[in-house]
Amino acid sequence: MRIIRKVKDWRKLRSSSLLKNKKLGFVPTMGALHAGHLSLIKKSKKENQKTIVSIFVNPTQFNDKKDLKNYPRTLNDDIKKLREEGTDFLFLPDTNEIYAEEFTYKVSESHISRLMCGAFRPGHFDGALTVVMKLLNIIDADSAYFGEKDYQQYMLIKGMAKAFFLKTKIIPSKTIREKDGLAMSSRNLLLNPRQRLLAPKLHKILNSRKSPEQIKESLNSARFETEYVKEAWQRRFASAKLGKVRLIDNVKIKR
Ligand code: PAF
Repeated sequence: MRIIRKVKDWRKLRSSSLLKNKKLGFVPTMGALHAGHLSLIKKSKKENQKTIVSIFVNPTQFNDKKDLKNYPRTLNDDIKKLREEGTDFLFLPDTNEIYAEEFTYKVSESHISRLMCGAFRPGHFDGALTVVMKLLNIIDADSAYFGEKDYQQYMLIKGMAKAFFLKTKIIPSKTIREKDGLAMSSRNLLLNPRQRLLAPKLHKILNSRKSPEQIKESLNSARFETEYVKEAWQRRFASAKLGKVRLIDNVKIKR
């Protein structure tokens, strides 16, 4: 696996005979890789001739500085996992290069980004959309892969790609869960043992046939601090905290 840190080095490689007419798949991540990320890489490898993964903990999508500071960083483990998965390239950019203009230019969506997670994390989606736009422009892939656990993010990225006529195809991939139903997330590493035992209840309760109001009550009784339970795109979404750890999940609505 080749590790590339500079935009100009990747551009050179992308236009070289090694990659020029090759179908390229791209998996953007913030590291702390788990089986959910690995499933995106597997999908990309199946559908493309080459796969590149990026690891970049994007500061502009954290509306809370402490959250950014505490975000899990496991680079050596990540590199090992990427090698085992047969990833071709890892893009590891530097914040100073990605944000040379200091985030004075941004991509902003004014409808979907204000709902659900956007209502509780002001500015979060501006940061996420901006970095994804930058990465898609840099990497110049045929397809980019996003997990459905962050379904609102996936819908926004899909909308952005359409609105700005981006060439890269935006491809969703199913949420990967632990055996007990908990959606895989880098943030799960932040749960203490007691919280980890409670965490699968988010999926269990969300997946029941109760109304959103009843789900909110059940989550709160199960010691979650529920931010929202909402329905959209034939799915039911929830965000709930265990202590300081914010968990999100979504399921298809059963009729
Ligand atoms: O879903 C994520 O891990 C991040 O939001 C992304 C898409 C890598 C952008 O920083």
